Amino acid sequence: MTTFAFDVYGTLIDTSGVTRQLALFLDELAGEFSTLWREKQLEYSFRRGLMEDYNTFAGCTADAFDYCCERFSLELNDHQRSELLGSYQTLPAFEDAAPSLQLLAEQGLPLWAFSNGTADAVNGVLGHAGLLPYFKGVVSVDDVKTFKPSPKVYRHFTQCSGSDAKDCWLVSSNPFDIIGAIRYGMKTAWVQRNPDTVFDRFGVVPHLTLPSLSHLPKTLEY
Ligand code: LAC
Repeated sequence: MTTFAFDVYGTLIDTSGVTRQLALFLDELAGEFSTLWREKQLEYSFRRGLMEDYNTFAGCTADAFDYCCERFSLELNDHQRSELLGSYQTLPAFEDAAPSLQLLAEQGLPLWAFSNGTADAVNGVLGHAGLLPYFKGVVSVDDVKTFKPSPKVYRHFTQCSGSDAKDCWLVSSNPFDIIGAIRYGMKTAWVQRNPDTVFDRFGVVPHLTLPSLSHLPKTLEY
């Protein structure tokens, strides 16, 4: 049966949502900080995967945050630091997420959240954003102690969802996630919200490229 794996951070949940809180400390540099924070968070997850030195995604997020604070000479007390890190649990959903998930769920399609985040973190952030009811469940890489795009995590998804890779659609805004899923034999829908985002050259292309999640339910009808 066709099964859907939705990436969470960057696809359903807007990681740049922390910019407003960061602006209280960094003014016009907040956007730059937020972008570097996300890049470093992902870089740390890749490196921990390669080194086989697992830490949770929240751990990578905290380490990346501390790196950025040093880079931007931002000095925070413990309370301010934990408030800003805590804001990762209350990040907003992208506006197109709920209506699209609702349409797909109404078609009876099995939808799963599939993330680098631990099950607790993903349940928390999706619950806060009101998206949790659309999902059959959450599959986290934490069970296999490595990160996307290791083939181990895509295999873990198929095992948890009881599906074959060829019947799975990975829906993600993150090119590295799309490429990892193609390598594992899944079908992929890349959500390219920003037309300036370039797809990495790895010798493969997404099966679908969509300008927003809203295009997914309609595209799948044909
Ligand atoms: C996730 C990362 C890729 O949610 O943001 O899996």
